[in-house]
Amino acid sequence: MTVVKTPLIEVRGLSKHYPVGTMRRKRLYAVDDVDLTIGEGECVGLVGESGCGKSTLARVLARLVDPTEGKITLSGADIASMPARSFGGSPLRRDIQVVFQDPTESLNPGFTVFQSIADPLKRLLGGTSKDIAEMVFAALDDVGLPREYGTRYPHHLSGGQKARVGIARAIAVKPKLLVLDEPTSALDVSVQSLILHLLAKLQKQRNMSYLFVSHDLNVVRLLCDQIAVMYLGRIVEFGPSNSVFYDPRHPYTRALIDAIPDPARKNTARIKLEGSASSPIDPNQSACRFAGRCPAEITICSQTMPLLTARDDGGLVACHRADDVALRTSAQAGARMS
Ligand SMILES: Nc1ncnc2c1ncn2[C@@H]1O[C@H](COP(=O)(O)OP(=O)(O)OP(=O)(O)O)[C@@H](O)[C@H]1O
Ligand SMILES: [Mg+2]
Repeated sequence: MTVVKTPLIEVRGLSKHYPVGTMRRKRLYAVDDVDLTIGEGECVGLVGESGCGKSTLARVLARLVDPTEGKITLSGADIASMPARSFGGSPLRRDIQVVFQDPTESLNPGFTVFQSIADPLKRLLGGTSKDIAEMVFAALDDVGLPREYGTRYPHHLSGGQKARVGIARAIAVKPKLLVLDEPTSALDVSVQSLILHLLAKLQKQRNMSYLFVSHDLNVVRLLCDQIAVMYLGRIVEFGPSNSVFYDPRHPYTRALIDAIPDPARKNTARIKLEGSASSPIDPNQSACRFAGRCPAEITICSQTMPLLTARDDGGLVACHRADDVALRTSAQAGARMS
C-alpha cells in the first residue's frame, strides 16, 4: 500500500532551457516540463544516464539556478518566481540545502571546518557566537566527526571526512529538504556505504525530505521511498521504489535495471541500451524522447509524445507500451531473480 505523505515541495511544468550557438536561437532542453512532488520526510531518488538533466533539475529545484518556466511550491509558497539571488537571501533558503558531488570542490580551502559550518548558520539563522558554536558542534556530533576537527582545514581531511563536513554544513541550519547530487560518487567504495548509512540515519532522525540524485539504482532502491527516472530532460517513470525496480513499465527503466551487473540474471531476457541518447537541442516535441533507441518502439512512438499516466500501483509512466504485459513479465522475471 502506498502511504501518501503531505507534500513538502511540488514542482509543476518545470523547464530549464539553455540558449545555444552564437545566434542563441536554438535551445538545449536540459529539463523539460517536469512534475515532481516530494512529501514531508520522504526520500525521492532521481536516476538516469549522464547528461539527462538530473543535476540541472536538482539545482533548479534548490533554487541555485532560475527555471525557464514552471512552478515550485515549497510549504505552500511559490519559490520559482523568486530570482535565485533573492531566494538566497530569503528565510526559505534554510529550508532547502544542497550536498554536492565533490566534497573537495564544495568546501572553501581557506575555511576551517568550523568556519565552513558556521558560515551558513550566521547568514541564515544568526545568533550569538556561543549559539553558533553550539550549533556547529551539534552538527559535527550528528555526522560523527570529533569536535576538535573544527580547527582543521579541508586539506587535512580524508574524502569521507570532507563529505561529513559537507553534510554537517547542510544540516546545521535544520533544512526541510536536502538535495543530494551524487553525494558519494567521488568517494572510495568503502567510505560510500558509511556515508549512505549516515544519510539514512539523519533522514529518519530529523524527518527530512531528500532529493537523492544517483547513477546507482541499487542504492536508490535501498535508500529512497520513490524513484524518478529521467530521460533527456523528462521524467519517464515515477513511483514507489520497489514497484519501479521490480516492475518497471518503461523500457528505459528496464534497460537501466538490466544494466546492473548481476550474474544470477545471466539467462533472462534483458534490454540493452545501444548508442547514446539523441540530442537535447530542440528535441522533437511530437515524439517519445526514447524513440529511435527503444527496443519496444511502435509507430505511434515517433508521432506522439507519451505523457505521464497513472500506473495501477500509485506510480506514473510515460510510455505508449507501458501496459504491454509481455514486456512487463520478462522484466519482472529478471528483476525477481536477483
Ligand atoms: N549552464 C549550462 N549551460 C548550457 N548547457 C548546460 C548547462 N548546464 C547543463 N547543461 C546541459 O544540460 C544537460 C543536462 O546536464 P546535467 O548536468 O543536468 O546532467 P546530469 O544528468 O546531471 O549528468 P551527470 O550524470 O553526468 O551528472 C546536458 O546536456 C548539459 O550539457
Ligand atoms: Mg549531474
